[in-house]
Amino acid sequence: MTRQSFLLDDRLTTYIADHTNAPDQLELALIAETAELPEAMMQIGPEQAEFLRFLVRISGAHAILEIGSFTGYSALAMASALPEGGTVVALDASEEWTNIARRYWEKAGLSDRIDLRIGPAAETLAAMPEEPTFDLAFIDADKTGYPEYLSLVVPRMKSGGIVVADNTLRSGKVADPSDTSESIEAVRRFNRAASDDDRLDTQLLPLFDGLTIAVKR
Ligand SMILES: C[S@@+](CC[C@H](N)C(=O)[O-])C[C@H]1O[C@@H](n2cnc3c(N)ncnc32)[C@H](O)[C@@H]1O
Repeated sequence: MTRQSFLLDDRLTTYIADHTNAPDQLELALIAETAELPEAMMQIGPEQAEFLRFLVRISGAHAILEIGSFTGYSALAMASALPEGGTVVALDASEEWTNIARRYWEKAGLSDRIDLRIGPAAETLAAMPEEPTFDLAFIDADKTGYPEYLSLVVPRMKSGGIVVADNTLRSGKVADPSDTSESIEAVRRFNRAASDDDRLDTQLLPLFDGLTIAVKR
């Protein structure tokens, strides 16, 4: 189907998909519409959507922050698992891609749970009160912004809140010293900062393209 972890071969990827909750009809339609875009690779995969839904359920998160919504799959998955009264504050710079997201959130009956804010995410975040607000944050926007997103997000997390960041292994390139490109260096700085931060307990998991999960103490 869509993206797979660089750590898995096709056979194992198919096996895992066969033994994980499958996307519903609406999610399949969103995946198909997104697949028509040249940027389709930016979309999270169905197993990752399931994993996010699962995290929201087991954590009981009410207030979720998302940085990087694209066509809306991750926000849709997380919002669908929220308890009554819960919300996802979704940040993205693109009107074009989030117009697709809005259509699917509406069709899923989840629009009232998703508060989309368009603009550069660092500016939107900096304008939010620096106080414990969120139970769960999902960081999945421009990789060069990751270190700044972490420093803006942590003070806004409640104690026990979970920070999740996608693509933190960058297909393994983070461990290749010959790759000194800006986006890889930024993810390395993020990984260093997350693991050294005394306010966090951090795990970098070999899931998908690398998934960091950090819990605020
Ligand atoms: C990898 S995609 C997000 C995928 C999404 N989570 C999903 O479920 O399909 C990254 C998104 O980050 C957004 N983005 C990139 N730079 C940004 C910035 N500086 N501020 C806000 N959003 C940004 C892009 O517009 C894009 O929609």
